[in-house]
Amino acid sequence: MSENTPPEPTTHFGFKDVKESDKARMVGRIFSTVAKRYDLMNDLMSAGVHRLWKGAFVDWLAPRPGLDYLDVAGGTGDIGFRILERIEGRGVPSIIVCDINADMLAVGRERAQTRKGGGDLEWVAGDAERLPLPDASVDVYTIAFGIRNVTHIDRALREAARVLKPGGRFMCLEFSRVDVPWLDQLYERWSFDVIPEIGARITDDREAYVYLVESIRRFPDQRRFAGMIANAGLSQVKVRNLSGGIAAIHSAWKI
Ligand SMILES: C[S@@+](CC[C@H](N)C(=O)[O-])C[C@H]1O[C@@H](n2cnc3c(N)ncnc32)[C@H](O)[C@@H]1O
Repeated sequence: MSENTPPEPTTHFGFKDVKESDKARMVGRIFSTVAKRYDLMNDLMSAGVHRLWKGAFVDWLAPRPGLDYLDVAGGTGDIGFRILERIEGRGVPSIIVCDINADMLAVGRERAQTRKGGGDLEWVAGDAERLPLPDASVDVYTIAFGIRNVTHIDRALREAARVLKPGGRFMCLEFSRVDVPWLDQLYERWSFDVIPEIGARITDDREAYVYLVESIRRFPDQRRFAGMIANAGLSQVKVRNLSGGIAAIHSAWKI
């Protein structure tokens, strides 16, 4: 590097600082390693509670038929399938599950094939920061436990605003900041002592789950994230905590 070359910007990968250009590859490696055990791990790590959070997320969304849905960082399709269940049999569903990782999408496609009633989800490879969709093309943008992993959260939020039609809905489910002191300490121990251990046993990749826990701690808290959503051009931002703030849902609208 010459004296005049500015240093490459860095970002965080869990508690480590890494070059921005390296983060997507590092996140990609993690999800490729865990893809086949991802759904099982979610159940073990959260003692099944992620299902309740996702249920609460889709309840608040209250999906209606006749709308175009996009679930970004949709992974193996948990949110896409839940939306589909709510609108199935009431017209032709239009639900795109978009994810940057081909291995996660492959597991999702397999799930669709074995699902009673078939798939009816469209699986698309794409980066949340550069969505392969035209401006104003979807009515609903959802992202669950995904935005924490993108390199530039602000760019992903601007992309959400870009692809939403006027009047469209943005909804994000993400780990957040616990606001109950006794729960905070318990959650801290579960996160740093238990989750990496379960990860090591089930996926043989302790590091992936150390990353997961650390990335949760680095993610902005409810208020700051609400401000980022508003800065991206979305309006009427509302927040609901789940399980004392372990997770939170942010809802907003494209005006
Ligand atoms: C924790 S999983 C969540 C999957 C699913 N939404 C769920 O709730 O079960 C995070 C997902 O984000 C995806 N991801 C990470 N960075 C991404 C990016 N820049 N663009 C799109 N997807 C991304 C990963 O490949 C992974 O499938």
